[in-house]
Amino acid sequence: MVCNSIANAVIVVCMVAHVTAARVAGLLGSWSGSGPAYSRLAEGIRLLISDGRIPPEARLPSERELTAALGVSRTTVTGAYTTLRNRGFLASRRGAGSFVTLPAAGGHGHRGLTPGGVPDHLIDLTCAAMPAASGVAAAYEAAVEEMPALLATIGYEPLGLESLREIIAERYGRRGLPTSPDQVLVVAGGLAGVALVLRAVVETGDRVMLESPTYANISSAVSRSGVRAVSAPVAPDGWDIEVFESTLRQAAPRAAVVIPDFHNPTGALMAAEDRQALGRALARTHTMAIVDETLVDIFLDVEDRDMPPPLAAFHPSGVVCVGSTSKSFWGGLRIGWIRAPEPLVSALLSARTGLDLGAAALEQLVAERLLRDASRVLGLQRELVRARRDALMSAVRARLPEWRFVRPAGGLALWCELPKPLSNGLVAAAERHGVALVPGSRFSAYGGLERFVRLPYTLSEERLDQAVSGISQAWSEADVPAAYRPDRPLIA
Ligand SMILES: Cc1ncc(COP(=O)(O)O)c(C=O)c1O
Repeated sequence: MVCNSIANAVIVVCMVAHVTAARVAGLLGSWSGSGPAYSRLAEGIRLLISDGRIPPEARLPSERELTAALGVSRTTVTGAYTTLRNRGFLASRRGAGSFVTLPAAGGHGHRGLTPGGVPDHLIDLTCAAMPAASGVAAAYEAAVEEMPALLATIGYEPLGLESLREIIAERYGRRGLPTSPDQVLVVAGGLAGVALVLRAVVETGDRVMLESPTYANISSAVSRSGVRAVSAPVAPDGWDIEVFESTLRQAAPRAAVVIPDFHNPTGALMAAEDRQALGRALARTHTMAIVDETLVDIFLDVEDRDMPPPLAAFHPSGVVCVGSTSKSFWGGLRIGWIRAPEPLVSALLSARTGLDLGAAALEQLVAERLLRDASRVLGLQRELVRARRDALMSAVRARLPEWRFVRPAGGLALWCELPKPLSNGLVAAAERHGVALVPGSRFSAYGGLERFVRLPYTLSEERLDQAVSGISQAWSEADVPAAYRPDRPLIA
């Protein structure tokens, strides 16, 4: 059967195979083992997809057909399909059925991470976010008291409240990037900022360079903007700028999305000389960089004064910075910003008017209060994060001594290299031991990264210890695929 599916202005012509229920049952053979039936069934189907016996794009049988063919309860099949959907192996289209996808498959819409979708009985290590920093509640109270003055206005401020833009501009000035408030646009979080810049600067068919690995929702924003993603590798200990430069030269992307300040997921911090070299490469290749600085405040082993200047300081006319309050103060605040070279501000503003007309006023007042008091609030928050990072590193070293990681100087997660390429198998086994994880492949634009798993250190030390205990039991159960050939590890 030939189908034309139109996804974000990209026309995909695909041959769709239909895998019958009898065929799935035959291929599965026995799917016995430990853990709930739905989870074993999901893992059995996942293995068939991973080794190619059920191909990408194939239509799976309906839940009713598979229930009958396997002689199991409907709940088992529904649970298995839900698990596969959550892990990115299945996409269901109303009226058309359920189709096999590959997590992080390029070109067909990268699946981002949805925070908060983890059942209560699991320890959630899928999301790297802390509860609100101390001081957030007081900032809300103070902001409410200031609202009456704003309520006398019409409330629309498409660039954002001037008082907030001023403090954001001052912060850039202190970091070595002179900025006027008119270069700042307040948006609903860092991700919305990246998506808005993409909307303003790229067109369907352009190439956009992404780091690999990168934050999954950036891959999702890029793949949904109708562009072609090209990637440049980031090693667990950071960037090889020469490789970046040659990718920029050869692929000639319109834009590149970079996370130099505690890269998600590796935690790497780009050195000042690498920023300078990258700035030069961007200028030579006329590439616009979209720099995501969402994690810039979470420095744990570096002093504030030793933080390198923003990448934009090395190439001010070709870099757009995106910042956020989510990781510094609280994800529920939903306030971020874009700092752009002046000529781009009106393009951003007109891209925005087709989307929304500004960020919420009360939250902007809260963000302003918090940014004015940032050194106190963030000092306390960093202490908490540092203790959790150290506890997680100790627990991993003690219980999973063969795993490797580079100590992150900041950010909110450990990027662990497994001795075998078993990230997806580990995720399935970890769920049986009460822990929800995201496989390494979700941080790649193209899949792969099977030897990596991201462990956020945002839960309490006690919960982290329980999680690592569950993960180490799961690790002892994760199987080596027959095709596995040992490879040189990336972390020495
Ligand atoms: C690098 C990076 N960018 C953006 C975001 C999302 O930020 P926000 O919640 O402000 O949209 C995250 C969240 O983890 C992140 O790590």
